[in-house]
Amino acid sequence: MDIIEIINKKRLGKILSEEELKFVIKGYLNDEIKDYQMSSLLMAIVLNGMTDHEIIALTKFMLESGEQLDLSKLGNIVDKHSTGGVGDKTTMIVAPIVASCGVKVAKMSGRGLGHTGGTIDKLESIPGFQVNISTDNFLKQVQEIGIAIVSQTNNLVPADKKIYALRDVTGTVESIPLIASSIMSKKIACGTKKLVIDIKVGKGALIKNLKDAKKLAKLMIQIGKANNMEVVCLLTNMDIPLGNNIGNALEVKESIDVLKNQKCGNLTTLCIELSCYMVSLGLNISYDEAKEKILESLKNGRAYQKFLEFVHYQKGNLEELPESKFHYEIKSKESGYLASIDALSLGKLSMHLGAGRLSLKDKIDYGAGIVIAKNIGEYIEKEDILMHLYTCKELNPKEISTEAFSINKEKPKQVELVYQVIK
Ligand code: URA
Repeated sequence: MDIIEIINKKRLGKILSEEELKFVIKGYLNDEIKDYQMSSLLMAIVLNGMTDHEIIALTKFMLESGEQLDLSKLGNIVDKHSTGGVGDKTTMIVAPIVASCGVKVAKMSGRGLGHTGGTIDKLESIPGFQVNISTDNFLKQVQEIGIAIVSQTNNLVPADKKIYALRDVTGTVESIPLIASSIMSKKIACGTKKLVIDIKVGKGALIKNLKDAKKLAKLMIQIGKANNMEVVCLLTNMDIPLGNNIGNALEVKESIDVLKNQKCGNLTTLCIELSCYMVSLGLNISYDEAKEKILESLKNGRAYQKFLEFVHYQKGNLEELPESKFHYEIKSKESGYLASIDALSLGKLSMHLGAGRLSLKDKIDYGAGIVIAKNIGEYIEKEDILMHLYTCKELNPKEISTEAFSINKEKPKQVELVYQVIK
C-alpha cells in the first residue's frame, strides 16, 4: 500500500477501505508515515469528510493502538465527557454527585490547551492531589469509594495522542469525523459501556453551531452502538462561560459551593441535568427518579462528603488552595442590563492571566483566573465591578477591555442552557 495513493484518493473525495485506514494508523505510529504526509491526509479528511463506515473503522484502529481497560467487574459504571468550554468544571461536581447516588465513576481526563481548561489541571491545583495513578490502583479506588479521576495513561489510544498533537498545529482540529473518532476511541478504551457526552455549542466551544453539534452527536451515538456502548448526548450553550469562576483553583472553590448546595445558576442547573442522565443510565431508572436522588444527595450533604472522600483518597489538601499575588477589579463603563458574556474572550483573558497554557510545556499559575461578579439579566450601574482578576502578573486594570460584557438598555431574555438531548 502507498500513502501517496491514499492521500490522493481522499483528496478526490473517495472512500478509504478498512485496510487503508489500518495501514495509515499503523504506519503513522511506527513513523513509516511522516508528519507531513499525515497532515496532508488529515486536511483532505477535513475538506472531504468520511462516511460513517470509514469513521467507525478509523475509531476501531485508533482504539486498537493501545491498552483497553475492562471495567466489567466493577458493577454500575457511567462515564462522562465534555467537548470543552470556558469555566467547565462539571466533572468535579457531577462525578461525586453521581457516585453518591450509587453509580460508580471511573474517569480518565485530559489537560487543558488554549482557552478551554482541563479537569486534570483543575484537580492538580489542589496541593498534593495525585493524578498519575497506576491502572491497578485506579480500579482499586473505584471499587472502594466509587469514584476516581486520573490522568490518561500514555498507553491509552497512543494513535490519538500523536494525531491530536499534529491536528493542533495544522489547522485540522475542526472536523466532525476526526473529533468523533478521537473522543470515542478514548472513551471506548476506558472500558465504560454507558456514557453521557456534553457537546458544547457556541462562541467558546469547538463546535460553533447546532447543526454540526447534532451531526457529531448522532455520529458518536452510532460509534457507541457499534461498540456495545450506550451514549446520551446533551447539546449545551457555550456562548457564555459556565458559572462565575474561570481558572483552576477558582473553579475548585466554585465546585465546592455547588456541592455544598450553596449556589444556583447555569452551572448548578447543568450539573444536575448531566447527573440525571448519568444516574438514570447507571441505575436503569427514570429521569425523574434520578433527579429526586440527586437533589436529596445535594441537600443532605452526601454529594459533598463524596467529593471530600475522593480528594483525600487522591491525597489532595483543600485547606491550602493556591492564590495569585495580585487582585484587580474591573469596572463597568456604562449602565444597563447584562445581556451576554463572551466565553471565548474571557477564556483567552484567563489564559493570559496565567490560568492556561498555549503549549503543553507552559507552566500554569493555579491561583490565576477570573471571577465574574454579575449574572446575565442583572442591572449594572456604571462603575459596578464586572469581574475580579487574579494573577501573578502586574497589570493596569484600566487597560483591560470590558467588551466581553454586552450591556443593553432592555432586559434580555433568559439564556437557553440545554438545547437538545439526543439518545
Ligand atoms: N476532544 C478530543 O478528545 N478530541 C478532539 O478531536 C476534540 C476534542
